[in-house]
Amino acid sequence: MSRRKKIYEGKAKILYEGPEKGTLVAHFKDDATAFNNEKKGTLEGKGVLNNRISEYLMSHLAKIGIPTHFIKRLNMREQLIRQVEIIPLEVICRNIAAGSICKRLGLEEGAALPRPIVEFCLKNDDLGDPVVSEEHVAAFGWAGPQEMEDMVSMTLRVNDFLSGMFAAVNIRLVDFKLEFGRHYEGDMVRTILADEISPDSCRLWDLRDGKKLDKDRFRRDLGGVVDAYAEVARRLGIMKESPALKIIPNGKSA
Ligand code: TMP
Repeated sequence: MSRRKKIYEGKAKILYEGPEKGTLVAHFKDDATAFNNEKKGTLEGKGVLNNRISEYLMSHLAKIGIPTHFIKRLNMREQLIRQVEIIPLEVICRNIAAGSICKRLGLEEGAALPRPIVEFCLKNDDLGDPVVSEEHVAAFGWAGPQEMEDMVSMTLRVNDFLSGMFAAVNIRLVDFKLEFGRHYEGDMVRTILADEISPDSCRLWDLRDGKKLDKDRFRRDLGGVVDAYAEVARRLGIMKESPALKIIPNGKSA
């Protein structure tokens, strides 16, 4: 495993060269960061859960026609993905006010928004991933007009689909972050969904008691982070076979 060529290491994942041209292997780590690296931790088993949850959500999105980078899961911590050129934007979709929008606009956490709101942030840790307008995106050429249209329409479809999927298991999809990439197929280029969709990149609240089942448990020191992620997986019907979640720590072979 260690002999594979590492292409990139991020905060929660490592990307290795894949077995075929145009593919990569994404390895999900147990590391967590928040507030742009100010807070760091290791949450044993998080990578295993996020690998499975992201596989589950991306596979279902593919079935409704959303093109994604996901090809197949390889093992507990790894999945085979299509290599893309990441568009340097985080696309955030919000249904309920929480997190940074509350601070920026003085909203109360938990307030329903008048309609789903899509925001763009520039992927730049040094700047703290600032919110940017479509005007900025166009002027600086971070994404083209067609790419922007594709990203917004896919994000809204993802929101509708995942809101329903989570509501069916008594979870409210408060907000989430997506990343997209340019996938080159011959001389064609297509915008496809990339990165991951997991409790690291979504806010998920229990519909009955409001309990947070996402990374805010880590950000706010609420404890029980991995248990909450496991609860999401359990409700979605993933990892049914392992109630004790036999999780192999990072670094050991899976
Ligand atoms: P925010 O309220 O902090 O802007 O976050 C909105 C959503 O985006 C929330 O579900 C967490 C997710 N998110 C990420 O996945 N990565 C990030 O770097 C940030 C800032 C947010």
